[in-house]
Parts: sequence; structure tokens; C-alpha cells
Amino acid sequence: MCGIVASLGSRPASPFIIQGLKALEYRGYDSAGLAVMGAKGVKCIKAVGQVSRLERKVKFKRPAGKLGIGHTRWATHGRVLVKNAHPHCDDKGQFFVVHNGIIENFAILKEFLIKKGHKFSSDTDSEVVAQLLAYNFKQVGDVRQAIFLTLRSLKGAYALAIISEKEPGKLWGAKLSGPLVLGIGEQQFYLASDPMALANFSRRMIVLEDNEVVEITTEGYTISNLESEKTVKRPAALVDLADKEAGLGGYSDYMSKEIAESPRVVEDVTRGRLNSETGIVKLGGLDTVASQLEHIDRILIIACGTSYFAGMVGEYLFEEISQIPVEVQLASEFRYRNEPLSRSTAVIVISQSGETADTIAALQKISDSGILKLGVVNVVGSTLSRLTDAGVYCQAGLEKSVASTKSFIAQVTVLVMMALYLNNHSPLYNELLRGLTDLPEQMRGFLKSNSVAKIAKKYAKYNNFLFLGRRYAYPVALEGALKLKEISYIHAEGLAGGEIKHGSLALVDKNCPCFATALSNGIDDKTVNSLAEIKARKGKIVAVVDDPKSEAAKLTDDLIVVPKVPEALQPLVAGLACHLFAYHVAKTLKRPIDKPRNLAKSVTVE
Ligand code: G6P
Repeated sequence: MCGIVASLGSRPASPFIIQGLKALEYRGYDSAGLAVMGAKGVKCIKAVGQVSRLERKVKFKRPAGKLGIGHTRWATHGRVLVKNAHPHCDDKGQFFVVHNGIIENFAILKEFLIKKGHKFSSDTDSEVVAQLLAYNFKQVGDVRQAIFLTLRSLKGAYALAIISEKEPGKLWGAKLSGPLVLGIGEQQFYLASDPMALANFSRRMIVLEDNEVVEITTEGYTISNLESEKTVKRPAALVDLADKEAGLGGYSDYMSKEIAESPRVVEDVTRGRLNSETGIVKLGGLDTVASQLEHIDRILIIACGTSYFAGMVGEYLFEEISQIPVEVQLASEFRYRNEPLSRSTAVIVISQSGETADTIAALQKISDSGILKLGVVNVVGSTLSRLTDAGVYCQAGLEKSVASTKSFIAQVTVLVMMALYLNNHSPLYNELLRGLTDLPEQMRGFLKSNSVAKIAKKYAKYNNFLFLGRRYAYPVALEGALKLKEISYIHAEGLAGGEIKHGSLALVDKNCPCFATALSNGIDDKTVNSLAEIKARKGKIVAVVDDPKSEAAKLTDDLIVVPKVPEALQPLVAGLACHLFAYHVAKTLKRPIDKPRNLAKSVTVE
């Protein structure tokens, strides 16, 4: 999704902006641009495509100046064209803005400004901000006032960085819903929509809150509340963004690196929280709300994308282990649903980034309800982690590939531990504790066997896939299908095994293979039935099995053999197999694995 960086201080702005934008590349984007305040005014340079294309233009045009703003764009309003790339400015070139988010009332504002004679040059919602700034400046003759007036007229979501020739020594930032941090260096200040952009520049940071505006000069900064205009005092925090995980470390792409990190992620997630010797699951984050948790009689899990599928695994886990009824909802649906909620419900939001707009809005919807809000979030200090009452961090480390892999593994591991935490009398307790302890080595063994690449190569020629699974393997089927779609562009559908005969079987023939998770789970005969139905229609079958001699295995064309683990942990090994399968299919097809077309890592708009 869009990324913002800006800097003001004693150092030239454009090298930082280019480096900052490169650090944000993993989030997904389609064009980039920067504007630098020079002695003779603002130089604005934009390019469609990779940041390296912008970098080449910048090297050629050499914009000199120590104040600048930059942006990577992920198109929402208007096609991927240079004119739609940010920064945007008003028709007199007085105000330059970069914007992350959506201005929902842009059409009304644009109509108003056009009537006032403003000439628009892009199709974006963001340009309206620059034009409105210029309009308001004309009315009030003061940059600060123009900015506050403008921000108060905007509806929707924004993180903004603004510069103006009317005050060439100032950088402004503002936030509503979209994330924005202020980085404080030596005689140097930065703004960024993702702290990763500041990794090599500043460890001191302030996370801006909604409705805050920051005014920066070379001397210092002032944060004000947009409504009251009162100064907000907040100490800077030291954020450790050591770049150790940011490199490829010998891998050809981040996705393969992150899949390979899965065993290590299980170790990190469970370290200090789980002790199979003493039989203890310790989740400090939940201890603070332990008394509230005792009164919970329903859990509502809310998430998007892969996090939603991890949530579906959670549904099986909490119901089976904790004996608490669970419902899982897509954040984009929950936010517009009118359902009655009781105070004895606990809401769990799951999110890798902690910045997904729909999940944030879902949580905000229940902010005053008194309902306990828990988070399973990866990025420490992210918006969702701050909006929840308590939670458990995923500790998956930085995930750069757009397609989530190790985060799914971390989320499911956290959910297993949460389910155990909520019921330490579960008959599965000791088995799962031991299972989680043994899992990393088992996963390593499976990764070493390297069996998936060869099979995936064979299947890369198909245009359609069905993914099947029952019980815990059902969400895995959905996750497997999503992963294949997003990185290989092959159409895939995930189904509960029992559902195939209710419609999707009509698709099955020799051209529509099926990827089945057929691990031992007490209803193996049902899985065999589904596979037999596919076989009878000449459908090819790839199956993930833990017993190569099983009945299911006999019906299968290609076997992916994973280690035997307790059923509640099967999503972790089967998930790993699905991730590898999608990866190797996409690799065979030479897809841009880490940055699939049209997608973004962190979806900060609705
Ligand atoms: C995007 C990403 C997915 C991710 C989803 C939810 O679509 O591409 O990989 O699963 O957002 O993101 P979250 O950060 O909330 O887990």
C-alpha cells in the first residue's frame, strides 16, 4: 500500500527519500515520486514502476535541498500513470503533499474547488488536499491555519506529509487512521508511514495518534491536536529496527526466506511462554486481563486475508481445547454488520501488520462497548496493538514478501497457546505442549526433504485448482488456495472436503487437479470418499499426508509427506506444505514472487 517518507534537517533530502522508499518497496506499490525544496523552489520528480526508475531520474535531475517528501503509490483512484503518482500539488505549485489513505469526500471537495477555478491535473483523491490547502491559504494567508482548516474538511483516512513554498523551512505531517511516525535524529527529523523506512536513520521515534498534526523545523517539532490545537507532549521511544532480518541472506526472494524461517518462528513464538517439562503456558500479555477472561462465554475472531484463515484454525482450537464457542468474521464484513454483541464476548483481532484498515475499523466499532479486545499482532507498537486491551505478539520478525507465510505459522502457534492458556485441564494439554516443543525440528526435517519443488513444477501448467481439507485442514485448504492465487495467478478454490459434491465437483476433470490435505484425523474415511469422487472424474490429486501407506495416499498421484503431529498442530505442517507448493509453482512460472501484481503487503485503505 502507499508509503510516505519525508525529511528535514542538515542533510540532503533526496538520498534519504530514495533509501526510505526502497525500504517500503516490500509493501507493494506501482509508482513513486518525490518533491524537494530547493533554493529556486520545489523540484518534483515522479516515475511509474520501481523506485529504481525514480532513482535514475533523481540522479539525472539532482534535486538539491534539505527538505523533501516522497511516496510510493498503490493505485486506488486513477490509473497507474505519472500524473497520478505523488507528490501532488495545487495548480499554482504552492503546496506539495504525499498522502496514504483515502479521502472519502474528495468528489464534493473537488467539485467545490473546480467551481472556484482550480485546475486539476490528476485523477486522484489526494490532489484535492493540495488544492484545498492553496484555496484555504488564499482565504487566511497563513500556512498553519490553512493546514488545520484543510485537515478538518477531510473525511476518510490519511497520513500526510506537506511542504509549501510559502514556508520553505517547514515540514508538516498529519494523521487520521493511516500510520505515521516522527523520527528524531541528530539535527534531523523524518516522517514515515512505516518505521522500517527509518531503520538506518533514526531509532528515536514518536508514533503519531489520530487527529494529530506535527510541525517540524530544523530546530525542533511541535505536535498539536487537530481539534483543540493544543500542544501534545509525548516522549520519544527508542525503537530497535536492527536491519538484521531485512536482507535476503542468500535466498533468491523473501518468500522462500520467510518460509524457511517457519521452524525458527515456532521456537521464537513459544520461547519463554511454553514449558513442556513443567506443563506451563505463560502468556504475560493475557495475565493482565485474566479475571475478565474467566467470564468469557464466546470468542469473536476478526481478521482479513491469511490472518482470517489463521483465525479459522483458531475457531477449531478454542472450541476443541478451551470449550468456548467461537465465530470468525472478516473485518470488512463485521464493520458493517448489525449484530448484537454481549459483554461476555471477547474479540480477538489477528493481523500481521497491525495496520489493516478494515481490522482497525472493526475494532473501533466496538471501542466503547466494554467488550474485551485482544490482539494477535506481529508488528510491535502498531495501531492494532495499541487499540487492544491485551494480547500476544506473534514475534515472527519482519515479513517482507506480500504473501504472508511465516506470519500464518506464528499466528496459529499463538492461537494454540492461547487455547491452552484458557483451559489447562484440556485432555489435549500435555500432548500439544510436547507437540509444539518437537515441532520446529520436525518442520526442519520436512524442509530439508525438499520434496515439494519437483511436484509443484509438474502442476504449474494447470489453470485451475481445488484445495480440499476437513476439520483443521479446511482453513488450510483456504489458505493454500489463496497463496496459489496471489503469487502464481492460477485460479484456485478452497473447499471443505464434504462440500465438493455440492457443486465444485462439476469443475473436476483431467484439467482441474486437486490439492488435498489428507492427514490422519479420525475421519480419514471421509477424506478417502472425497478423493475417490475426484479420481472417478479423472482429476489429478496432490495430497499432503503423514502416512504414505494410508488409503488416501493410495488414491493420490503425487504425495507430499509431512511429519506426524497432533491434529491441532496439523495446520502448521500442512500450511508449510501449501506455502512451499504455491512458492514453487510461482517460481516455475517466473512470477514476481515477493511483489505480486495488484497486491500490497499492508492494506491501509478500505
Ligand atoms: C494483505 C496481505 C495479506 C494479509 C492481509 C491481512 O492482503 O497481502 O498477506 O494476509 O493483508 O493483513 P494483516 O497485516 O492484517 O495480517
